[in-house]
Parts: sequence; structure tokens; C-alpha cells
Amino acid sequence: MYMLSIKLVFQLFVIYFIIVKNASSFAFGDKNQPESITNEGLYNANDHVVILNISNLKSTIHGSKIAWVVEFYSSWCGHCQRFAPIWKSLARSIKSWRDIVDVAAIDCANSDNNPLCREYEITSYPMIRYFSPNTKIGGLGVTLDQVKNEEMMENHIIKQLENDQEAGIGIKWPNITPCRSSESEDVWKGVRANVVYKFLLFEQTDSFLGRKVILDFHNTTEILIRRVTSDNQMLCMNYQVTSFPNLFAIDRGGVRRKLKIITPTRLGVMNSINHFIQPKGLTSNISKIVTNNEFDKNENAKTSQSIMDTVVNVVDDDVALADLEAVVYYSLEHEIPLQKTIRDLQLAALKNYLAALAEYLPLKNGKSTYFRAILNAINENDSIKGEDFYKLVNSTAEKMSPVYTTNQQWVRCKGSNPRLRGYPCGLWTLFHTLTTNYAAVNSESTSINSPTKILSAIHGYVKYFFGCADCSDHFVNMAEQLKIFQVKSVDESILWLWQAHNEVNKRISGDVTEDPKFPKIQYPSKFHCPQCRDNDDEWNLTQVLKYLKKKYTNPDVEYNNISEPHYLKLIRTELPMNKNITHQQKIGWDFTLFDISICVVLYITSAVILTLVCIKFLVKRSSKKKMQIHSLFLRV
Ligand SMILES: Cc1cc2nc3c(=O)[nH]c(=O)nc-3n(C[C@H](O)[C@H](O)[C@H](O)COP(=O)(O)OP(=O)(O)OC[C@H]3O[C@@H](n4cnc5c(N)ncnc54)[C@H](O)[C@@H]3O)c2cc1C
Ligand SMILES: *[C@@H]1O[C@H](CO)[C@@H](O)[C@H](O)[C@H]1NC(C)=O
Ligand SMILES: *[C@@H]1O[C@H](CO)[C@@H](O)[C@H](O)[C@H]1NC(C)=O
Ligand SMILES: *[C@@H]1O[C@H](CO)[C@@H](O)[C@H](O)[C@H]1NC(C)=O
Ligand SMILES: *[C@@H]1O[C@H](CO)[C@@H](O)[C@H](O)[C@H]1NC(C)=O
Ligand SMILES: *[C@@H]1O[C@H](CO)[C@@H](O)[C@H](O)[C@H]1NC(C)=O
Ligand SMILES: *[C@@H]1O[C@H](CO)[C@@H](O)[C@H](O)[C@H]1NC(C)=O
Ligand SMILES: *[C@@H]1O[C@H](CO)[C@@H](O)[C@H](O)[C@H]1NC(C)=O
Ligand SMILES: *[C@@H]1O[C@H](CO)[C@@H](O)[C@H](O)[C@H]1NC(C)=O
Repeated sequence: MYMLSIKLVFQLFVIYFIIVKNASSFAFGDKNQPESITNEGLYNANDHVVILNISNLKSTIHGSKIAWVVEFYSSWCGHCQRFAPIWKSLARSIKSWRDIVDVAAIDCANSDNNPLCREYEITSYPMIRYFSPNTKIGGLGVTLDQVKNEEMMENHIIKQLENDQEAGIGIKWPNITPCRSSESEDVWKGVRANVVYKFLLFEQTDSFLGRKVILDFHNTTEILIRRVTSDNQMLCMNYQVTSFPNLFAIDRGGVRRKLKIITPTRLGVMNSINHFIQPKGLTSNISKIVTNNEFDKNENAKTSQSIMDTVVNVVDDDVALADLEAVVYYSLEHEIPLQKTIRDLQLAALKNYLAALAEYLPLKNGKSTYFRAILNAINENDSIKGEDFYKLVNSTAEKMSPVYTTNQQWVRCKGSNPRLRGYPCGLWTLFHTLTTNYAAVNSESTSINSPTKILSAIHGYVKYFFGCADCSDHFVNMAEQLKIFQVKSVDESILWLWQAHNEVNKRISGDVTEDPKFPKIQYPSKFHCPQCRDNDDEWNLTQVLKYLKKKYTNPDVEYNNISEPHYLKLIRTELPMNKNITHQQKIGWDFTLFDISICVVLYITSAVILTLVCIKFLVKRSSKKKMQIHSLFLRV
């Protein structure tokens, strides 16, 4: 019994250690990775997307036998994150076209790639470029509109392929242009000898169906597919086609058969063709086209799961100097230098931005002179190259070193995964810091210090430099709607930015780019500022203003060099607006490893206590026996 309990306890400890060890490597896994402003990209090896970087982009896309579509993106850009699933499905969907055109991506947020993204004139993200086969070095490709789904993306690519084909590039590609009437005379004229069946797909003139199917089957050498458009009256009449799409198979003997298309989609037409050729012993080597495959479903399930499990971290609502330094560093050394040449309005915006930083960004040790020095160096110039700006910023920093007091890592803007928060969060923080500090210095607006001075510097930066194209457009529109340049006082300018930020929070609340640990709320939260809302839940602007000023001009910001956010409490805060309450219903078997390890600890504790009780009981019994014997002896 005794041995058994000891064995039990030992086994439990072994289990406990295994679990706790796993749990901690799971929970702190992120920390082991090098954590910098540039982080891992949005794609990995499983995505069918060819991941390019500074060392292989040029050798891949220039002088290539095939065409390339490349997404230049930035891993922190919310719009890029929303677009990534589309890019992945596109890559999967046209995998079978890969000896004609292939899909790639490059992360411009990775500083190593910075010179490349500048060279290709990537100033907003995501930017999609089509490179024809044999594009020479120096060619920037054709910019394609990025659209809402992979199907439309395919259409854009097909148009480029067709243009190329018309220009005599890609003669080896399957013919994706429509049949001409003259071709009807002898359908087999000029067709390769090994082709057994020819298919004619009749479709509306603006349809992309035929071109996609032609590309899908291009490797099945025994068949040839051509498209006939609805405006080809002669062929339509010849085949008595009045509705579209319609599919015919023709054999070498000239016998034509009309094939049934059950669903008029790419997959439907593919099935019809496969259905016809497979019994005849012909196989098509088309990789399965899975649009909504298991992988996606799993990923979606994972995302909604993590949103449901949200336990909101309530941290101190304050500003960390490290974030301000990180954002300034990234902005000066990475984002601005992406521009090829800065001039005119853009240059004016840059000067305003630098002037605002020089005066109203509190860096330690009076190092704001750093911004002044950069500004002075370019103040008289009417244009500057992005590359030269980078050199200027870098050499000025080296000269005045150390400019920064922290190691410029995200503290308050640290996301629960390296792709979330970071730079855009830092930018908002910087902007609020600028408006409030400006107000602290210029409480009364004067003719020199107009109340819109800082707002217009912010506006200029967002409009001309902020690489998230979508964010920038939204912001500029919102600025117009909310009349940014009609703000009457410096306090109003603080509130203007606060309101604009809340509008953005409202719009993207619940979006996939939202960090589940930091949901978008109407800021500030009731937890941090109960007095900011009155009884009717309306904002009390006096209180909001007071709160913002206190937070963003807090002198502690200078000393706040903590390297990790210290979580004060874990509570479930009020849910962000527009979000259904889902997580309360979620009290099922949803244990995390941490929960499990707590269970194990409890289990072990009780096991140990039980064992001790057992042992004590045994010891007592045996000592009782001994006592009885002893007393017997005494009696004798
Ligand atoms: C100018 C601009 C426009 C953007 N537009 C878009 C867009 O159109 N679509 C998109 O998907 N993303 C957009 N973004 C990015 C997005 O707003 C967030 O920055 C990003 O999702 C990271 O969010 P976050 O949770 O770190 O908090 P953020 O929204 O970045 O906020 C950072 C911090 O500011 C504080 N804060 C929050 N709200 C307020 C407020 N109202 N007033 C004062 N302080 C506040 C909080 O402490 C918060 O942690 C934009 C960013 C910027 C800078
Ligand atoms: C670029 O990518 C290739 C292939 O993935 C890799 O071998 C190489 O190390 C990368 N280069 C850089 C500079 O990251
Ligand atoms: C097409 O066929 C060739 C030769 O059989 C093969 O090398 C290539 O990988 C195939 N392409 C696709 C996209 O399947
Ligand atoms: C089709 O695939 C089979 C098996 O994977 C292969 O043996 C054959 O060569 C392929 N045919 C073509 C035309 O690619
Ligand atoms: C600005 O102009 C001056 C004088 O033309 C020139 O010497 C200097 O290199 C320019 N600075 C930059 C950063 O281009
Ligand atoms: C300047 O550039 C060098 C080389 O790229 C880099 O190592 C250094 O950290 C940069 N200095 C600053 C202050 O950014
Ligand atoms: C805002 O709050 C202050 C202090 O709590 C109060 O005096 C004031 O009346 C409030 N203003 C409004 C508009 O409710
Ligand atoms: C950061 O704070 C610690 C104490 O918390 C202090 O010892 C250290 O000197 C500070 N570092 C800087 C660069 O201010
Ligand atoms: C909340 O959920 C209901 C049903 O589950 C749905 O009809 C409604 O649109 C959801 N509201 C929002 C804001 O998501």
C-alpha cells in the first residue's frame, strides 16, 4: 500500500512536469523568437505562394520563362492581412498554370527588402505587379488592381496573359484568344497530331470561363480546347448555339457531340470534360481545384475560436517611450525612405512632420534636436531621394548617438502575435502624443500656432507616407468629412483626433486584423475612465479631454522604459461595440494547457494529501499494534 502510493505520486509528478514544460514553452514560445519591428511575413511554405526576398526576387522574375504575379505587401498592414487569404486561394487555384504564370509575395516590412521595394516604387500596400516572361531588369511590371476575390484576380491575370500573347510573347502557351470564323472551315487544320479531341466552348464575349479552362487543361496534351464567343455569329449558327456556355467535343472523324454542363462554372466545365475523356483512357493532370478546402475551414475555426475565448488584458493605459521611439525609427528609417524621390507637396509634408517631431515629441536628453538636424539638412532642398534621406537619417543618428534611449521594441503596442498591432498602433500613439503636447505648450492659439498645425502634419504624413493604402484613403476621406481643417482650438484638435480614431475603431471592430487580446473599443474604456461617460453613456468631452491630456503628456513617458507590459488584472471588460456576446456562452471543454496544469497540480495535491493520510493511518495502526503487544508484555 505504501509503495503503491509512492509510485502513484512519482508518476503524477512525471506527468505534471511534462505538461508544465509544454505549457510554458507554448505560452512563452513567442519570446524566444527574435522580436523586432520587422517580423515574419504573412505566408509560409504551405501556401503555394513563392516567397521572395532581396536575394532572389530579381533572379526569379527577370528573364523568366514564365510570367509572375508578385504581391508586395507589408506584414503589419491590416489590409494586407485581410488580402492574404485571397492571395493564398489564388495561388492554390491557379497552381496548375504554374508553367505559364506563378504567384509570389515579398514582405516590404522586412528591412532587408527595403531597397528592393523602393526600387520597384512600392509606396502603398498591398501592391500587385504582373511581370511578363522575359521582363528585363529595370522593368517594374504592370500594377494590377487588387480585388475582392481570387476569381476576379484570375481575370486580371488572364487579361495580361492575353495581352502578352497578342504581343507575341508566350507563343508556347495554349491559345486563349477566341476562334475566328475562318477557323470553322477545317477544325483540325494545324492541330498537333497527338490531339484526339478538340473542344469548343461557346461563351459570352466578356466571360473568363473558357480562358480559365483552357489554362487548366493545358498540360493534357491529348485534347485541345478553344473558346468561341457569342459575337461569332457564324460559328454559333453552325453549331446552333443560342445559350451560353455550351460545350462541344469533336473527334478526328469530325463527329461533334454536345456535352452537358451541369453547373456553368470553371469546375463544372472541367467536370464535363473529365467525364467525357476519362472513359476514353485520357487523364488530365490537373491539381485539384479546391476553393474552400479543409485548411481554410480549420483556419477560420481557429480564428473564431480565439475571438470567442477572448479574455481581455487590462493593462495600465499609459504611453511607453519605447513605442514612440520604435515608431519614429521605423517611420524615418523605413517608411519614408521607400519613396523614390520626395518633392513638392510630399516634401512639404515631410518637413511639417519633422518640425512637429522636433518640437512636440519628448525624447530623453533633449534628443529632439535630432529631428531638427535632419530638418535643417533638407530644409533648403526642393527634392530628395528616398535613399539619400535614409543615409541622412542614419548618419545623423550615428553622429548624435545615442539618439534613442530604449531598444525600440513594442511595449504598449506589442501584439499577442508579431503580426498584430506594432507600427500602426505606434503611429496613433505618436499622433495623440503630438496633439496633446502641442496643446500643453500652446494653450492659447495664436496666429503663428494655428490649431490645425499638428493635425495638418499628421494628415500630410498619413496621406503621403503611410504605406497602408487603404488606411490612408480612409483617413483622408474622413478628414474631409469631419472637416479637419476647420478645427477652432488646440483642445478641439486633440478631440478631433480622438474622434477620428474612434471612428476607425468602430469600423474595424471584429475584423480579422483585430488582436483578440486587445479588442477595438470606443476609447477610453469605462474601466480606465468611468467619468468620461455620463449616465446616458454619452461622452463627457471635458473629462475625455482631461483624460487624453493626462495620458499622452504624462512626464512619466520619459522614464517608462519597461520592456514587458505588466498585466495588472485579467478581467472581462465591456465588449467592443458591434460585437455579439459569444464568449459568455463558451463555458465548455475549452481548457488551455494552463488550465490543465492547474488541474494536475490540484490532482497531485489531493493525491499527496490522501497518501499522507493513508500513511499516517497505517503508521498509527501499526504503532497501536505495537502498543498492544507492549502492554501485553507489561501485563505478563
Ligand atoms: C491614420 C490611421 C488610419 C488607419 N486606418 C485603418 C483602416 O482604415 N483600416 C484598418 O484596418 N486599419 C487601419 N489602421 C490601423 C488600425 O487603426 C490600428 O492601428 C491597428 O489595427 C492596431 O490596433 P491596436 O489594437 O494596436 O490599437 P490602435 O487603434 O492602433 O490604438 C493604439 C492605442 O491608442 C489608444 N487609443 C485607442 N483609441 C483611441 C482614441 N480614440 N483616442 C486616443 N487614444 C486611443 C489605445 O491605448 C490603443 O491601444 C489605421 C491606422 C492609422 C494610424
Ligand atoms: C531568401 O529566400 C531564400 C529561399 O527561401 C533563402 O534561401 C535565402 O536565405 C533568403 N535570403 C535572405 C536575405 O533572407
Ligand atoms: C506539365 O507537364 C510537364 C511535362 O510532363 C511537367 O513537367 C509539368 O510539371 C506539368 N505542369 C503542371 C502545371 O502540371
Ligand atoms: C500525369 O501524371 C502521371 C502520374 O502522376 C504521370 O505519369 C504522367 O506523365 C503525367 N502526364 C502528363 C502529361 O503530365
Ligand atoms: C540639399 O541640397 C544641398 C545643396 O544643393 C546639397 O549639397 C545636399 O546634398 C542636399 N541634401 C540632400 C539630403 O539631398
Ligand atoms: C545605420 O546603418 C547601419 C548599416 O546599415 C546600421 O548598422 C546602423 O544600425 C544604422 N544606424 C542607425 C542609428 O540607424
Ligand atoms: C462633465 O463632468 C463634469 C465633472 O464630472 C461635470 O461637472 C460636467 O457637468 C459634465 N459635463 C457634462 C456636459 O455632462
Ligand atoms: C530603465 O529602468 C530601470 C529601472 O526600472 C533602470 O535601472 C534603467 O536605468 C532604465 N533605463 C533607461 C535607459 O532609462
Ligand atoms: C449577432 O448575431 C445574430 C444571430 O446570431 C445576427 O443576426 C446578427 O447580425 C449579429 N450581429 C452582429 C452585429 O454581428
